[in-house]
Amino acid sequence: MIVTIDGVAASGKSSVSGGVAQALGIPYVSSGLLYRAATLLGLEGGLDLQDAPRLLDHLRAHPVRLEPLAAGNRVWLGEQEITDRLHSTRIDRGVSVVAAHPAVRAWVDEQLRALPEPFVAEGRDMGTNVFPHAPHKFYLTASARIRAERRSQERPENIPEIEAALLRRDELDRGQIAPAPDARVLDTGPMTLDQVIQTILADIRG
Ligand code: ADP
Ligand code: CDP
Repeated sequence: MIVTIDGVAASGKSSVSGGVAQALGIPYVSSGLLYRAATLLGLEGGLDLQDAPRLLDHLRAHPVRLEPLAAGNRVWLGEQEITDRLHSTRIDRGVSVVAAHPAVRAWVDEQLRALPEPFVAEGRDMGTNVFPHAPHKFYLTASARIRAERRSQERPENIPEIEAALLRRDELDRGQIAPAPDARVLDTGPMTLDQVIQTILADIRG
């Protein structure tokens, strides 16, 4: 059994997925962390993020592993944990360029499809491309201002700067962001985190 939770940047995907996964007693899978890890490797390797063939060679030479735990996903580069380095403003700026390469998307998708079910998968294209057969699909939205206000708790920039960066990333990501036709769309703006989680659980439990 797979539950997919897609949505725009900072719409609440990972917090909601973590809550839903914990209530169901299963792990959740944060696909964005693999795109972020690919971006970190590219930046630290001094690569041009536009150069997909070199980036992919670099990724193939470095063993990146996603550990999908309900309490929070962890990412490993060999024996070294890199999770804490994946949410910087520098990664936010580069990640959409990296995620636009079909070869990088195939590198991520291959790792996601190898994971043992059940799990909650969150990202942009979990319900459309990666797990189109999933029986439970959700898509989260909220206004850019609300998302920026929420993210300002986690980033050093001010709210208008964060809002502009989120809108820029939504625009760059638009090729892979769309609700699956069978997804339930939830505007999380007027809801608390717990209301979103309970709404999704009630829907799944039918
Ligand atoms: P994403 O994974 O989509 O980037 P996050 O899970 O990081 O989003 O959520 C961004 C922030 O918004 C988190 O700090 C989360 O707790 C907060 N948040 C506040 N209210 C809500 C809500 N109603 N729904 C989802 N997230 C919320
Ligand atoms: O948490 P936030 O929404 O800010 O980002 P994320 O889910 O960690 O995703 C980071 C970036 O990875 C996105 O801006 C997309 O460029 C890319 N991504 C993607 O293309 N497809 C996915 N399934 C997940 C993320």
